[in-house]
Amino acid sequence: MPDPSPPRLEICNLTRAFGGRPVVDDVSLSVAAGQVTCLLGPSGCGKSTTLRMIAGVEQPDAGIIRIDGQPVCGDGPTRPPEARSVGLMFQDFALFPHLTVAQNVAFGLPRDRALQARRVEELLERVNLTGYGPKHPHQLSGGEQQRVALARALAPRPRVMLMDEPFSGLDNRLRDGIRDATLDLLKEEGTAVLLVTHEPDEAMRMADEIALMRGGRIVQRGAPYNIYNAPVDKAAAAFFSDINVIRGTSRGALTDTPFGAFLTPGHADGAEVEIVIRPQHLKIDFDRGGRGPNPTAQDGTPARGVIQRARYLGRESLVDFRMEHDGSILTASVPGVFLPKPGTALWLMIRRDRCFVFPVSR
Ligand SMILES: Nc1ncnc2c1ncn2[C@@H]1O[C@H](COP(=O)(O)OP(=O)(O)OP(=O)(O)O)[C@@H](O)[C@H]1O
Ligand SMILES: [Mg+2]
Repeated sequence: MPDPSPPRLEICNLTRAFGGRPVVDDVSLSVAAGQVTCLLGPSGCGKSTTLRMIAGVEQPDAGIIRIDGQPVCGDGPTRPPEARSVGLMFQDFALFPHLTVAQNVAFGLPRDRALQARRVEELLERVNLTGYGPKHPHQLSGGEQQRVALARALAPRPRVMLMDEPFSGLDNRLRDGIRDATLDLLKEEGTAVLLVTHEPDEAMRMADEIALMRGGRIVQRGAPYNIYNAPVDKAAAAFFSDINVIRGTSRGALTDTPFGAFLTPGHADGAEVEIVIRPQHLKIDFDRGGRGPNPTAQDGTPARGVIQRARYLGRESLVDFRMEHDGSILTASVPGVFLPKPGTALWLMIRRDRCFVFPVSR
């Protein structure tokens, strides 16, 4: 008796090496209908290779791929790409230049003219291109072409949609709108989506779940909130923002620093630890006319630093401090309305509830 509701897409222990070097190493994940999972990681970590194996254009060395619970690779005969009910959208989403928009969208549909016309019209309306059917791709802007490509990929109602950096060719202003519209459409269609990106912002914006990949392996999976607020290690934290790192030695589950003691439970006595803080969780305070800073219990002990550099980034300003106690540089983010002057001495405090503690990574 098969599971009544298997995940739409499931991959188990997928592995692929090139020239003896594992590029995808024991990767497992699943995506439910109507869900978006983002495979996020730096260039070369194996994202596209994973996607290509699911599409069926690359063969794994080991592992199983199931769609709706049915194996399409491993655990039985391998199904060719066209028999997997998988839609593809890549960065160079080349439309067929000699076909009209309508013919492009109808490309993967059964040869029933009335049915084709209905589906094409419905999809062009959904991607806001009603009336564009007779045009040719070269008459469209990049964003319009992108929407046609999306309509084409969705036309045969694929069970699974695989997208490899599909928005990276678009300029910034277009991108946000097209991302949101794409997401709405994919959700309406109930497709399971695996989206590859190396941009954390894109993953945070699009994903129900992020699978963080590094060196061919998935190092962490979770909702964007959890991945951002409970990173599994220093590199996972650093992938999403600049970070500050303070080293110390854990003694009796406490680590002393110039910012006071931090709880470091679960670290052996004498173990070296790294306390990792995102710039927005460094709090800045003033001298208050000689009375000194005014920390709360959450903030711990203030330490003084002198501003080296301040960069205005619009929504926020990034401020680099050289700390008086050891000359190290710490970066704080402040709302963009402030742009403090280099040379100013200020106090810094660290939010206890917002720092991460990791064993020293070598
Ligand atoms: N056919 C191939 N033959 C040999 N090596 C390959 C092949 N395909 C991919 N690789 C190597 O495998 C590694 C992972 O490639 P992959 O394209 O999966 O990375 P990626 O995570 O998609 O990176 P990017 O973000 O740059 O697109 C790279 O080092 C790449 O050079
Ligand atoms: Mg790639």
